[in-house]
Amino acid sequence: MADVVEDIKARLDIVEVVGAYVQLKKAGRNYKGLCPFHSEKTPSFVVSPEKQICHCFGCNKGGDIFNFIEEVEGAEFTEAMQILADKAGVKIDNVSKFAKKEAKGEKDEYFKAHDLACEFFERELFKTDNGKKVLEYLYKRGMKDVTLKEFKVGFSPDKYDALYPYLLKKGISKRVLIKSGFVSAKGVGSDEIYDKFRGRLMFPIFDYLGRVCGFGGRALKKDQMPKYLNSPENRIYNKSRVLYGLYHSKASVKENDNIVLVEGYFDVILPYQEGIKNIAAVSGTALTSDQATLIKRLTSNVVTCFDLDKAGFEATKRSYSILTNVDVVVKTVSGFEGKDPADLVNDKGGKEFIKFIEKSVNFISFYSDKLVSSNDIGTFEGRHAVVKELLPLLKQLSPSGKDFHIRELATKLGMKEQFLYDELESFSLPKDHPAREKAENVEKAEGFSLEQVICGIILGNPQLFKVLSKMVDESDFYGVEKDIYKELHDQYNKSRNGLKEWNFDKGFLASVKEKLDVLLLYVEERYGELSEESMGEEVEKLVDKVKKTRRSKKLNDLRTQIVEAEKNDEKEKLIKLLKEQQKLLSE
Ligand code: CTP
Ligand code: MN
Repeated sequence: MADVVEDIKARLDIVEVVGAYVQLKKAGRNYKGLCPFHSEKTPSFVVSPEKQICHCFGCNKGGDIFNFIEEVEGAEFTEAMQILADKAGVKIDNVSKFAKKEAKGEKDEYFKAHDLACEFFERELFKTDNGKKVLEYLYKRGMKDVTLKEFKVGFSPDKYDALYPYLLKKGISKRVLIKSGFVSAKGVGSDEIYDKFRGRLMFPIFDYLGRVCGFGGRALKKDQMPKYLNSPENRIYNKSRVLYGLYHSKASVKENDNIVLVEGYFDVILPYQEGIKNIAAVSGTALTSDQATLIKRLTSNVVTCFDLDKAGFEATKRSYSILTNVDVVVKTVSGFEGKDPADLVNDKGGKEFIKFIEKSVNFISFYSDKLVSSNDIGTFEGRHAVVKELLPLLKQLSPSGKDFHIRELATKLGMKEQFLYDELESFSLPKDHPAREKAENVEKAEGFSLEQVICGIILGNPQLFKVLSKMVDESDFYGVEKDIYKELHDQYNKSRNGLKEWNFDKGFLASVKEKLDVLLLYVEERYGELSEESMGEEVEKLVDKVKKTRRSKKLNDLRTQIVEAEKNDEKEKLIKLLKEQQKLLSE
């Protein structure tokens, strides 16, 4: 097993693996980006090509490519291994033999069930007479075979016992069938089950890795309710963490540095077919902050293309707040109210849709125009109504965003910018506003102790050991740092003509290698390319600080003990403590 793992590691570069999820920027020897594991506005996530590790100094998560994939995909080790093996082009015959001892999750069975169901529905669509009628409908709506195949669109026959007997025969358990929403039990406690997706057009929903994790089943008859029957959430499907179409569009989103967000399945597939490949759908609900994080990994530019009726507008506003919250710039398409992108593309072609996308305007500008034209801004009440609506949106902007939009709004309303700034100053966002749910309260990991930082600097700069050893000895360190110091001391003394590099594969250092890598990365990030001389000075300062901190802590302890001894009338102890105190104060 170690061989396969090493083989995969040797073929993949962590910068590339992580880069598929996080926008990375080169910063010195390393790359930096916004942490995919917690939400933040300034990057504390660092990727080191030399060490082939990543680490977030905000939430402390990270590790090698395997740890990264496990964490970011919520995958188990074998899954992460399969994902990476695929990427590396390494063939693994039987991944399950690499499964760790821990109980293997049911996830594999869910995925198997969804794959089988997907193939089943596809066969029903293309190979049966009833399916062919549905195909006609799809062609009429502009769909082509290649596109249907790419999105694995299918059809569930209008029967109570089509899918489930097939899946049971393939070894899928009843439990997984129920949890996946493929079947229901006939009654409470009943063992008998029946198919739930009947006579529907089936859109498989893909997760970020392209695995089918759920279905949306569209009604095909007028009176068939509901219009969409959707998979329930379960071990592999979390609807707030999936964007429909994103698996297909992610490469294009990255390339264009832009994503078009629409509402429904057809709205993704038809424009995609016409070349607008950077597109995904929220599937009829408001965008969630998890979805915003998914988007932010790929781009900071969104064009929303939602229905702008009353409910749609509220959803657009909420999505706007959630996206602005992670510093994504939101533009809005307007002008073809009453139609959705799928119909527009089918009637007028993809080019027409592209024109609308190009004409999209910043959401605040769009909204303020709308408000200005629907209120009488000649009256105080009218103006007040406009300003009141816009304050929550303006409040969460960056200073330059505020500058731009306040100027614009002041001009539209014919009022002084300063008054808008004053209004904004005294306004605070309501408690349930999405911008207040911010992950500011994400636990910030405690940094490293001063002793650890000292060790880190010395590990990265062996020539400075001499400076350090003049100031301290073994007794100045505790715990792990003591052992590190001992090992360094040992290696240093054994080298005759100065030491150029520590041997990390030896003794105590080898046993804490992973921890040391993170520590070294931290020191690299914090001190960058300081000269040897400045690094030496830094070590001196740190040692000094450690000693001062220790001294004052010791004095504090002594003071407490002295008070205690006085209270208990312990004369001998008191004398001893006072002497100690005297000694420390005179140092
Ligand atoms: N939706 C849903 N459940 C519903 C209605 C809608 O989950 N009862 C979601 C679906 O993801 C759907 C999207 O909201 O694709 C948009 O809904 P709608 O515009 O009603 O459907 P379309 O997909 O546009 O279908 P069509 O164009 O065939 O009417
Ligand atoms: Mn539609």
